[in-house]
Amino acid sequence: MLAALSGTPGTGKSNVSALLQKEGYTIISLNELAINQGFVTGIDTERNSKIIDIDGINDYIDGYYKTDDLIFIEGHASHLLKTADKVIILRCHPNKLKIRLEKKGWNQEKIKENIEAETIDVILCETVELQTEENIFEIDTTNKNNNSVLSSIVEIIKSNFEPTKKYKIGKIDWSEEILNEF
Ligand SMILES: Nc1ncnc2c1ncn2[C@@H]1O[C@H](COP(=O)(O)OP(=O)(O)OP(=O)(O)O)[C@@H](O)[C@H]1O
Ligand SMILES: [Mg+2]
Repeated sequence: MLAALSGTPGTGKSNVSALLQKEGYTIISLNELAINQGFVTGIDTERNSKIIDIDGINDYIDGYYKTDDLIFIEGHASHLLKTADKVIILRCHPNKLKIRLEKKGWNQEKIKENIEAETIDVILCETVELQTEENIFEIDTTNKNNNSVLSSIVEIIKSNFEPTKKYKIGKIDWSEEILNEF
């Protein structure tokens, strides 16, 4: 089973992936896989980020990683993989996300762009285009430390990705922040 672990940059995917790995789960970094297998098709110079051939890497993952075992694919584009069976989206309140991205040393323009994307639910909207609601889970990390985010993900795994009210999509709403100037 393939589970995509996505979320706006700064929501904590890499941090929690390291913890999941320590717990013995298999995690693949979409970015690293794209680099190693030649699915980077260019550089978005404006965003200073890699452009990934998402259909190409989707087919590659579908061919090599689709097994009965649970495998996580981590990255802010992983929800775009059609072959993913489940998608977990990490969320973070825009004010807190700003602090996390500043801590990462990102420039103001990039911070603003990502905060706006988080505010208007870009990743969730893209995910519902590809997945049915019961296969998508949202975790609000705003007031959780990394271990608590880990516990939430383990809870979802242990329940066999059964839909649950707790992580049901659509409960998180940062829309009151839309008019705020970041
Ligand atoms: N739950 C959390 N509580 C507090 N700080 C956090 C939490 N999760 C992540 N952070 C901090 O936010 C920053 C970004 O975290 P991280 O690099 O894991 O995000 P990411 O989602 O992997 O981002 P990217 O998409 O850029 O790889 C780091 O400084 C990290 O320590
Ligand atoms: Mg990361």
